Amino acid sequence: MATVTFDDATRIYPGSTVPAVSDLNLEVGDGEFLVMVGPSGSGKSTALRMLAGLEEVNEGRILIGERDVTDMPPKDRDIAMVFQNYALYPHMTVAENMGFALKIAGVAKEERAARVLEAAKLLDLEPYLARKPKALSGGQRQRVAMGRAIVRQPHVFLMDEPLSNLDAKLRVQTRTQIASLQRRLGVTTVYVTHDQVEALTMGDRIAVLKDGVLQQVGTPRDLYESPVNVFVAGFIGSPAMNLFPVDFADGGVQFGSHVAPVARDILAGAHGNKATIGIRPEDVRVATDGDGLPIDVDLVEELGADAYLYGHTEVDGSRVDIVARVDGRNHPVEGDKVLILPEERHIHLFDTETGQRLNPAVKD
Ligand SMILES: Nc1ncnc2c1ncn2[C@@H]1O[C@H](COP(=O)(O)OP(=O)(O)OP(=O)(O)O)[C@@H](O)[C@H]1O
Ligand SMILES: [Mg+2]
Repeated sequence: MATVTFDDATRIYPGSTVPAVSDLNLEVGDGEFLVMVGPSGSGKSTALRMLAGLEEVNEGRILIGERDVTDMPPKDRDIAMVFQNYALYPHMTVAENMGFALKIAGVAKEERAARVLEAAKLLDLEPYLARKPKALSGGQRQRVAMGRAIVRQPHVFLMDEPLSNLDAKLRVQTRTQIASLQRRLGVTTVYVTHDQVEALTMGDRIAVLKDGVLQQVGTPRDLYESPVNVFVAGFIGSPAMNLFPVDFADGGVQFGSHVAPVARDILAGAHGNKATIGIRPEDVRVATDGDGLPIDVDLVEELGADAYLYGHTEVDGSRVDIVARVDGRNHPVEGDKVLILPEERHIHLFDTETGQRLNPAVKD
């Protein structure tokens, strides 16, 4: 088993002036499932490839366990990688595909067969060992790709969007299988995805990247309840957190005709006399009269027990879209005008200039 450490690791591609990964500091625990998430181009694959030894590290170090692997060739790092395009060898059977790396490594035939069989059992691939890849479903092929990594019994698994070739339904099934398999094997895993739902459901912890810079690392709950900045707030959670500017008022922030209370010292820490407020859809209370921010209802999406109300308002002369989770049985309809109030305990406030969080998060 092994830990993984990025120590101020930086990658600047030749000809580029901005780092693709900038001063990355991150520790992955022994046996942990860490998910790296971020939008396209944020440096996820680069970080993973640096760890694999496929990309040069220009500054800083990478450690696996106690070993500094920064300048070590990939084959000596004791890692196995599953890529997005896990091309299987079409002329080989499933068993041959899974055992190929072991054969190259000179592992004896009997041991190879035993390890392939063991992995095949774990992955429910035993009935297919003699088949060629073209006679498998997409999900089965994906499991063969996982099997190739497992048979090598590496200290670390690296996975770069391994589910993106699968359709939506299969992706959901397979992500559960991968997460539970990883827990059973207990192998330290770094998993890359741009899908924040995948990150929330699979990871022990999640590292959020943007423009090559690590924004926050924490448990799914940490990131959901206490995003450190506007970017993480908007990126984690679906439907996304409502985010818009609010003016400071006496004792809090102005929310339509209502003042949402905020401690004076929190507001004093902000640049200017505005903040960006963040409210999750489940923390929006909807009323038909009284105080609050007036909203025009554009659409209500029924989900059974719940529904999502999509509406808009105007803030400082610009349109702001609002999403609220409402009761599925009893809710406003398209064209209604309603008033919204935030669940005050769960307000997130961010500095309008720096995007950094201003208030401490309430946990419950
Ligand atoms: N070989 C390369 N040479 C030069 N620049 C590169 C190279 N590979 C990636 N980049 C740049 O580095 C940045 C990070 O790319 P990277 O592939 O790590 O992003 P990513 O987060 O994996 O994105 P995606 O979700 O689209 O896979 C991008 O700006 C990209 O254009
Ligand atoms: Mg990538």
